[in-house]
Amino acid sequence: MSNMKEQALLRVVEEKTPLRVVNEDLEIGKVKCVDLASEYGTPLFVFDEETIRENCKRLRSSFSNYTGEVKICYAFKANSNLSILRIIKEEGCGADVASYGEIYAALKAGYDVKDIVFNGNAKKDNEIRYAIENGIYLIVDSLDEFKKIEKISKEKGITKIAFRINPEINLISTWSTSTTESKFGISLSKSPEIFELAKKSHHVEPIGIHFHIGSQITDPKIYCDVLDKIINKMREIKSLGIDIEILDIGGGFPIPYLLFSYIDTKNAQRKKELSASYDMKKFGNNLANFIKQKLEQESLQIPTLIVEPGRYIVGNSSILLVSVQTVKDRNGVKYVAVDAGCNILQDCWTYNWFFECVAISKTGAYDKKCHIVGPLCDSGDILGKNRKLPDVKRGDILAFLQVGAYQLEQQSNFNLFPKSAAVLVNAGQHYWIRERETPDDMLSHDIIPPHLKK
Ligand code: LLP
Repeated sequence: MSNMKEQALLRVVEEKTPLRVVNEDLEIGKVKCVDLASEYGTPLFVFDEETIRENCKRLRSSFSNYTGEVKICYAFKANSNLSILRIIKEEGCGADVASYGEIYAALKAGYDVKDIVFNGNAKKDNEIRYAIENGIYLIVDSLDEFKKIEKISKEKGITKIAFRINPEINLISTWSTSTTESKFGISLSKSPEIFELAKKSHHVEPIGIHFHIGSQITDPKIYCDVLDKIINKMREIKSLGIDIEILDIGGGFPIPYLLFSYIDTKNAQRKKELSASYDMKKFGNNLANFIKQKLEQESLQIPTLIVEPGRYIVGNSSILLVSVQTVKDRNGVKYVAVDAGCNILQDCWTYNWFFECVAISKTGAYDKKCHIVGPLCDSGDILGKNRKLPDVKRGDILAFLQVGAYQLEQQSNFNLFPKSAAVLVNAGQHYWIRERETPDDMLSHDIIPPHLKK
């Protein structure tokens, strides 16, 4: 690690990720990355337990000046591995779930039903029934869904619900869910009508209001602007005789993705979105104050505040270890092919996401320009275009950083490549948290009808 530039780069990595440089080796959770790669094989997601716990604690303390109750309901879609869910539950968080499977996982991981919120815009009857039978609170996305829930509730008793409101703000962001064009929620202007309708029901009780602006939201002011509109509507809703007991502001808190080899100068907006961060403590405090003052101003009671962070809790907690399979030069371009593709880091495909990459088993200056590609039979299988790495060779280990949110979750078996396995590290200890898939695992749900068995 003699090169000054490389040292500076690794200092930034240490600041934003659980990787640490110890005696010229890169470690995570006090375990050498090369040892993890040789013991467990690659590709391998490595999650650092301590980082997840710290993120939960920081988030909780950020909202500590709110006068009412605050519930952190972790968004399972970011990562629903059972061990990760257990850690987050131990930190006192609840769950934001969006499918039968996620409800099942929440119950299996021991989450208290009082701390589970059920989101989603196309809930099936069996999912609604499952939630109601377990006493789970539902967030309703449309009038149509409300009617469905009301009908099912008739058989079961009274169901407590919130409505998901779409504030329809014209936010320029790749991951926005609250524009006029988004599929989610009920228009803000229509919200009093639907609350009034729900109030007349004998089977549902409307007690909450929910919104979720989007993911990796770069500007905290956007939450305040939306809250201003929402709380104004709460006043209108109160005049109908409905007190809002739960105010759920969704997730979307960003993490600063490392971009030291980002060279796409044409896409400044993307760079701004990816590198965004804010001081969570300051932001949470300001937000809690804003809500309190606005509620007071409108003479409204203090509701329970729910936040549904996903990325913020797990995003920076994990790295993906991969090994270089081949290196080639074609027409002056260097291709470094590794054993994980866009089937594993799906967001590289879907959103042209940028995950920074460092060399684990190689020292030297980051001055060799290359494309890092995967093994899939698809020319779009590129994990990093125009990156700079040391002079890596077949067998070297690389790590993609900040891959803890949405990646383990979104993997596929395209080309019948197995999904990546995962381990958890904590203070020098390491454990499997997801086994490696075998070819039989991948084919285990395929059925051959009798006439094809000959
Ligand atoms: N609440 C609701 C209702 C959501 O839909 C989401 C994320 C969250 C909370 C958590 O958002 P977070 O705090 O993680 O930003 N596919 C994209 C991300 C999609 C986010 C979906 N909804 C990705 O891979 O990055």
